[in-house]
Amino acid sequence: MKTQVAIIGAGPAGLMLSHILHLQGIESIVLETRSREAIEATIRAGVLEQGTVDLMKEIGVGARMEREGFRHEGTILRFDGIDRRIDFPELTGGKAVMVYAQHEVIKDLVEARLASGGDIRFEVTDVSVHDLDTTSPSVRFRQQGGELQTIEADFIAGCDGTQGVSRPAIPKGVLKGFERLYPFGWLGILCKAPPSSDELIYALSDRGFALVSTRSPDVQRLYLQCEPTDKIENWSDDRIWSEFRARLATRDGWAPKEGQIFSKTVVGMRSFVTEPMQYGRLFLAGDAAHVVPPTGAKGLNLAVADVRVLARAISQFYKAGQEDLLERYSETALRRIWKAQRFSWWMTSMLHRFPGADEFQHKVQVAELDYVTGSRAASTALAENYVGLPFDALED
Ligand code: FAD
Ligand code: DHB
Repeated sequence: MKTQVAIIGAGPAGLMLSHILHLQGIESIVLETRSREAIEATIRAGVLEQGTVDLMKEIGVGARMEREGFRHEGTILRFDGIDRRIDFPELTGGKAVMVYAQHEVIKDLVEARLASGGDIRFEVTDVSVHDLDTTSPSVRFRQQGGELQTIEADFIAGCDGTQGVSRPAIPKGVLKGFERLYPFGWLGILCKAPPSSDELIYALSDRGFALVSTRSPDVQRLYLQCEPTDKIENWSDDRIWSEFRARLATRDGWAPKEGQIFSKTVVGMRSFVTEPMQYGRLFLAGDAAHVVPPTGAKGLNLAVADVRVLARAISQFYKAGQEDLLERYSETALRRIWKAQRFSWWMTSMLHRFPGADEFQHKVQVAELDYVTGSRAASTALAENYVGLPFDALED
């Protein structure tokens, strides 16, 4: 079979790319190894930057997000038992973020693609990419254990996350990886309780980091810094709540609203970037090309930013027959990616307890938080990164 763009992976990057291309009159086929039910049920990120929110509305997939998501106009940084608020609209000329879970974004995108006749193949196996350095690359796969099938395409978009086949298919010596591992992970929980706070709380304590987020009026999302290879069995509900109470305590006696915990996961944390993000007619986007530690909520938003740049370049190829935006894809995307890497690394370093850290280190972290939340210049820098750096400045 033939298509214009073969897309590997139905995560936010692959689905969003397919939808934007469709709106430009460009055909694609999306291949996904997991089932529709599985991708729609995987709990991951929850904060959408202003640019992601605007893009979802612009491409007609924002209606449920606008109804059910929560616009957050600020966030709390908690340290030394006190709260300091960063006001996003005030510091960024009216921008904010939306708390709306990644799997809800996935549901909205899958529904939009299928409603407009989009071709998404779920539960495929044996996916492989070929002839990348020619003008007619191809992808092979199997569906329901059947014969190997081939898609011939003009382009392949590798949107298959950290464990995919696209990046490893690029010949050795072409890519350079840049990596930083962190000596901790996050234990994330979902619980049945009312919100503990109207806004997210990022907290530094001498026992480590804690984060209070939300999903709905009855479901809350909270995270705790833990060992990078910690086991969920080590974390009884009692231990989790006692750690949240200790790490989130304020001078005026704040305590989280507790409730039944129905999901616990541990994620490791690393920063990773591959350069370049393209080889011949294969273009990598999202987690296939880069990973950020979650502090600052950039992972999903970066995936969306990549495909926005890629879709524009592909569209220019078909409309004007020009390849300059395609040639510059990697360079354009990487400028924004490295800024988001820097922000995520900085937020992570400022808010976590490092193994072996002494009181001096803790005092310096507290001083940094005091400075960041006390100086208008420093608060503005945090706010503009948190709501998302502009897309357009990157495409000039
Ligand atoms: P993915 O969402 O990973 O999508 C890739 C898709 O490709 C998957 O559906 C996968 O099944 C499919 N695939 C893989 N291999 C193949 C193949 N060979 N053929 C076909 N399909 C394939 N970010 C935050 O900002 N905050 C968070 O709290 C947060 N929590 C996270 C928790 C976890 C457990 C993980 C893994 C990530 C988390 N992230 C978080 C990061 C964020 O979810 C990702 O950055 C985002 O999902 C990237 O989107 P993507 O489309 O690039 O990749
Ligand atoms: C959430 C995740 C993050 O990584 C973050 O920085 C804030 C919120 C969340 O899942 O709600």
